[in-house]
Amino acid sequence: MRVVSVTGDSFVPTNRQTGRYSVADCLPALRLAGYHQRMPRVLLCPPNYFDVVDQKNPHMSRACPVDRVKARSQWENLCSVLQQSGCEIVTIDPVESLEDMVFAANPVFVGETIGYGKFVVPSRMVYPSRQREVPYFADWFRKRNYRVIELDYGDDYLEGHGDLLWHPDGSRIYGGYGFRSTRGGVEKFAAGMSEANTPVVPLQLIDPYCYHLDTCLCPLNDEAALIFPGAYSADALASLHKFWKRVHLLTAEEAHSFMGNGIVINGSYLTPYVAPPLEAILRQEGLTPVIVETTEFEKAGGSCGCMKTFLP
Ligand code: ARG
Repeated sequence: MRVVSVTGDSFVPTNRQTGRYSVADCLPALRLAGYHQRMPRVLLCPPNYFDVVDQKNPHMSRACPVDRVKARSQWENLCSVLQQSGCEIVTIDPVESLEDMVFAANPVFVGETIGYGKFVVPSRMVYPSRQREVPYFADWFRKRNYRVIELDYGDDYLEGHGDLLWHPDGSRIYGGYGFRSTRGGVEKFAAGMSEANTPVVPLQLIDPYCYHLDTCLCPLNDEAALIFPGAYSADALASLHKFWKRVHLLTAEEAHSFMGNGIVINGSYLTPYVAPPLEAILRQEGLTPVIVETTEFEKAGGSCGCMKTFLP
């Protein structure tokens, strides 16, 4: 049997230098951002230049202007709720004219696996203003000694944690595609992740209001996930049922109002809204709903979940 050492929050095999682990060996030893940390660190970007200037997704409309003052106070409230839930907040400087940079989940994918260390995969975003965010995020991680894995995307796209979600035990990554990330982007990412010993499950998205995977899949714990079934192709739905013991369903209305774009943190579920069925699901999974108002960010097609990236 392997000997493991436990240091603070981390749970790491003592002989990690050998690198001789299969994925199955590593599972209990993986320390992933968020779910398994007592004091998770979370990266956010202040909304100084946040605005709705175009229509990148069907939630956006220029007819619905952003109230900047309200956006600022909603973002600050999200930060305090995260802090009260036990998170340490770290920020990246916002950049003028990058109106969506507040959605810090998208420009990168972040992880850590045994023998591979902390790594970041810069995205290839579809929209030009969002493409310009990527080097700022990649530099932020490079300066903090993350291994930066640059993929050769060719004509493909991949939108970071918008479309890529860890299974909480680190056994695999789910990769949504169809609206923003492409199937080819997810395949190229999967090839890159094979080096980090982590399989990727591709999931085709079919509802334009759920254009990113993080709007229709929210892992609640190692066994249970919240999904909106109408967002997936039949094959994708079958895969989800295979990988989760308990699959809880959201309605279209709930998903389109971002109830599946929550943040799971130390027994709380941060969500912009809650309805009795969702509340019952959360209670069953041992989570308490905490309402975090995000109306200004919803005008851009995002809520709590897309505004953060957990750091390993
Ligand atoms: N306006 C942004 C966009 O369309 C919103 C991104 C929301 N992010 C998310 N992960 N769902 O790119």
